[in-house]
Amino acid sequence: MSKFRKIYEAVYKSNNLFGINKTIASNPLSQASKRANSVAIVGGVLGDEGKGRVTDEFTYEFLRNHKQVIHYRDNGGANAGHTIEIKNTKIVLHQIGSGIMQKGCTVILGKGMVLHPIDLLKEIQLVKKAANGKVPANLVIDEMATLSLDTHRAYETALKMRLGDTGSTGRGIATAYADLLYRHPLRMKDLLSRGYRQSLSDHYQRYADTIKGLGYDMSKIAVTRLKEDDQPVGNEKDFIEILTEARKILKIYTKPAYEIIQKEWNSTTPFVFEKAQAMGLDAKWGTYPDVTASDCTLEGIKSSTEGIVQPERIAIKSAVIKATYTSSVGKRRMPTEIKNKLATRIRKDANEYGATTGRPRDILYIDLPMISFLFENGKIDYLVMTHMDISYPDTPIRVCIDYKLKGKSVPYRPDLNYLEQVEPVYFDLPSWDGASLQGVSKISDLPQEALKYIAFISKALNTQILMITNGPKRHQSINWLK
Ligand code: IMP
Repeated sequence: MSKFRKIYEAVYKSNNLFGINKTIASNPLSQASKRANSVAIVGGVLGDEGKGRVTDEFTYEFLRNHKQVIHYRDNGGANAGHTIEIKNTKIVLHQIGSGIMQKGCTVILGKGMVLHPIDLLKEIQLVKKAANGKVPANLVIDEMATLSLDTHRAYETALKMRLGDTGSTGRGIATAYADLLYRHPLRMKDLLSRGYRQSLSDHYQRYADTIKGLGYDMSKIAVTRLKEDDQPVGNEKDFIEILTEARKILKIYTKPAYEIIQKEWNSTTPFVFEKAQAMGLDAKWGTYPDVTASDCTLEGIKSSTEGIVQPERIAIKSAVIKATYTSSVGKRRMPTEIKNKLATRIRKDANEYGATTGRPRDILYIDLPMISFLFENGKIDYLVMTHMDISYPDTPIRVCIDYKLKGKSVPYRPDLNYLEQVEPVYFDLPSWDGASLQGVSKISDLPQEALKYIAFISKALNTQILMITNGPKRHQSINWLK
């Protein structure tokens, strides 16, 4: 009998809830051998799971008892879209961490990120506007973070024109990370240095030449910028001037983050690590080649902090999934894609449109072979389930428990070409009325079907359940730490 079938029998036939209806026994935030008060939040599948609001909630909880919280982001850049809703303000963050709206929070954009200075400046302005003119948190941009510029976006577009859809979000992410591997990155500290004009000029020329080699004039390639219509990269002078403007403001926030992390990690200040994208988008573990370029696993925290933070010492290593389905954006076609009216219903009810690109997202059934693979290799021990309210009494919840290839049971492998050939095997599980979950904040008030479902999924992923959300606003959740 397969592993998932055994768990299914235990939960649905023998009514074993594996203790999920009880509060976590010992406080996971203070365990021997772990760094107390540290929590990491990782995307569990293919992104857009709701990490932003989960992070926001943890930061808020910490700030009730601590003067300061460090909020650290180590990967990705403007390709991310983290939505947080506080009271009547809704804000979509791309490069800035979700703790930015909270006073007492130090939000660090880490070394492992690729930052677009012009978009970043605009994002800072949006935060200021939403917060009556002042950035509420203490924003720190690591001087070691790599720059992702219009040149990188133009190169992605040139590749697209040459090769067809490469699946990128057009935010110059892979091309900026490639600069690191080629050993010619520009970092924030280069933008702030005296010789920045020369560095930018060399960079511009290098990209103009490369793109010319592909047959295009870089200055004429239109690139996407935050809250602006697409516009051409322009000539070298314009390129340098606009970055000179951004530089003037960004230098206020740019610091050597290494020193802050070293000092604070050795103190008792709480740390919230917010990852961007998701483990299923990681280039080594995800649905290659339709993946992103940054390290989407906890290992990325280690390299971004230059080894100060060892991920295994983080007290809560949690991953977030959407409770009853998964969404996917990009070129990839997953074997578990829902192709009937249910997808349209979910897309509408859960507003499944890209926060960065506005694209309608594909809707997939929960894929246990894939998710359990990612959780196991990602060394995840706690589970957060969002969108628990997306469940319909007239439709069972379909979950993939196995793949078949040529009639044989086969595992998940991080290779899209392979995944396109497998046939999913499904279980249909009893659903509940999602609407009845509105306002539920206690586990004991959840319907039995929901409790069984939570028990089944958390056991299948070998995790303890940490939080369930049933609405987009802060506190629309059941938090096992409360
Ligand atoms: P890139 O990160 O722009 O190179 O995009 C590569 C692929 O990663 C996209 O087509 C998406 O499939 C995926 N991706 C990148 N960022 C996100 C995100 O924030 N949510 C969901 N998918 C993403």
